[in-house]
Amino acid sequence: MSIRRPINLPGDKSISHRALMLSALAKGESRITNISTGDDVRSTKECLQSCGIQINNDDNITFVNGGTLSDPKTPLNCGNSGTTTRLLLGLLSGQGINATLTGDNSLSSRPMKRVLDPLKIMGLSAECSNGTLPIKIQKSPLKGIHYATPISSAQVKSAILLAGLGALGDTTVLEKLVTRDHTEKMLIRLGAKLLSHETSSRISPLSNPLSSFEISVPGDPSTAAFFAAYAGILPGSEIIIKGVLINPTRIGFLRILKKMGGQVSFIRKWKEAGELIGDIKITYKPLISATIRSNDIPDLIDELPIIAILATQANGCTTVRDAQELRVKECDRISAICYNLKNMGADIVELDDGFIINGPTPLKGTKIKTYHDHRIAMAFTIAGLIADGETVLDNPDCIGVSYPEFFQTIEYLNK
Ligand code: S3P
Repeated sequence: MSIRRPINLPGDKSISHRALMLSALAKGESRITNISTGDDVRSTKECLQSCGIQINNDDNITFVNGGTLSDPKTPLNCGNSGTTTRLLLGLLSGQGINATLTGDNSLSSRPMKRVLDPLKIMGLSAECSNGTLPIKIQKSPLKGIHYATPISSAQVKSAILLAGLGALGDTTVLEKLVTRDHTEKMLIRLGAKLLSHETSSRISPLSNPLSSFEISVPGDPSTAAFFAAYAGILPGSEIIIKGVLINPTRIGFLRILKKMGGQVSFIRKWKEAGELIGDIKITYKPLISATIRSNDIPDLIDELPIIAILATQANGCTTVRDAQELRVKECDRISAICYNLKNMGADIVELDDGFIINGPTPLKGTKIKTYHDHRIAMAFTIAGLIADGETVLDNPDCIGVSYPEFFQTIEYLNK
């Protein structure tokens, strides 16, 4: 069997969160087309609605009536979404909102100090025990800061920049490595005073409210990676994924797939709303191993679970290092990858900050522990499709966090 059909995907999750948050600040009606259909983006939408923003959907268009946020009457439930939590902490602090943020069990164990530390230096008054949710923030006057982040994280950078929109004076964020830059790109497009160059971004407070805008969200490259990988390991396959975001900070996966011998081509490229978009074609070719180190990590951080699956089918020893951030994602992804791949018969060694995989090895079907993590569930569904015997996920529904239509797309491709 091989897969050979073209697909379109719902909008990128990172851009969808940002489009909702910035349209909530923008005066008047903004329109977002092709927003992510996942639960994470729904969490952002519902939190903003609780802050008094009117958001309605009609077909594939989301209408946001933004302008002024108000204090929510009940705690804001961020669900499973780290991006919702961290970016909202910045956005709401900058707008002088009193709120309590909560989340599910996974989110409540994830580190928030990385965002609270710089926000507190800006002047935010916040209550939180253990550096995790729940977090209560109180209206506080913020001042601009010059902050070098100890962890290169787009969520941390974005939170600080969003807070900076409502601070007194300019705010500068410096990172060690370049991370995804959608917040900067969108703010620049909307006319905010923001200077951004590689690892440094400086924002000035807004002197006037942002104007409403229209945006069509490009297809999610992190979702595309699962289907690209499926074509990349299934002999005879060739798929075209249309209208995908190909911002260079997001396509580390495609670069690695190419390095591993997979055939990846951009058959059309264009720019929309400051972002690069493309139709990409992935053709099966036998794979070889790759080495992934610190500089590569931010551009493929969410794709490491599916890269691990590719590595089991590649000839040679694939090493992933400097990826300790994987331990504090929706689950401890290093441990989840190693546990499940060992059970499938792969040759994998767990490291503190990554793993080593010797390939190729045939995989055998087994029970998969998803740890309720959407990317672990999708990666091991792909592994199951090339395995001998049956693979059963303990919680397939968790995939709804980013791509509820995942199994329909697989079914369509397998037809
Ligand atoms: C995201 C940034 C990344 C990524 C997450 C989404 C974003 O997290 O893993 O899924 O939208 O800014 P970090 O910034 O913590 O690396």
